[in-house]
Amino acid sequence: MERTLIILKPDAVQRRLIGRVIQRFEDKGLAIVGMKLMHISRELAERHYAPHKGKPFYPGLIDYITRGPVVVMVLAGERCIEIARALMGKTFGYEAAPGTIRGDFSAGRTFNLVHGSDSPESAAAEIALYFKPADLLEYTPAGSEWVFARNDV
Ligand code: RTP
Ligand code: MG
Repeated sequence: MERTLIILKPDAVQRRLIGRVIQRFEDKGLAIVGMKLMHISRELAERHYAPHKGKPFYPGLIDYITRGPVVVMVLAGERCIEIARALMGKTFGYEAAPGTIRGDFSAGRTFNLVHGSDSPESAAAEIALYFKPADLLEYTPAGSEWVFARNDV
């Protein structure tokens, strides 16, 4: 079963959007297998966003993600990386389609509410930054048999 790391960024927490954003992932049928509220340190932020180091927006990104509490989650489900990215919408709120999380709640560039891993490799690396393997639960939410067919390929 594929897994992805999702972060509800400081603007999502401050704007009291935690429940509404998590609802989108639950509604889609993805399972929450790990979750915590935390304040990301600068050191952890620099490790997480190392691929962006040197880009013009990098200093602002580190300031943003360390500015207040975040909710960090691991979601599980077939194709959940692709599904979560589609639910999130394009990076900049003003480009994201209505109906997506960013399209409905974000209007700018930096403040875009949510992070989602962009590949299986980054998902594995990012999950390891925030969770020990034992923190992640193995279970199948009720009704999953009506979300993912056994013969889906
Ligand atoms: P994320 O990593 O947070 O899921 O977002 P993403 O893949 O859609 O976008 P990415 O290119 O990885 O950028 C990471 C985050 O940096 C901020 N950003 N600001 N001001 C800018 O031009 C700019 N570009 C990127 C956003 O918060 C973006 O989510
Ligand atoms: Mg990214």
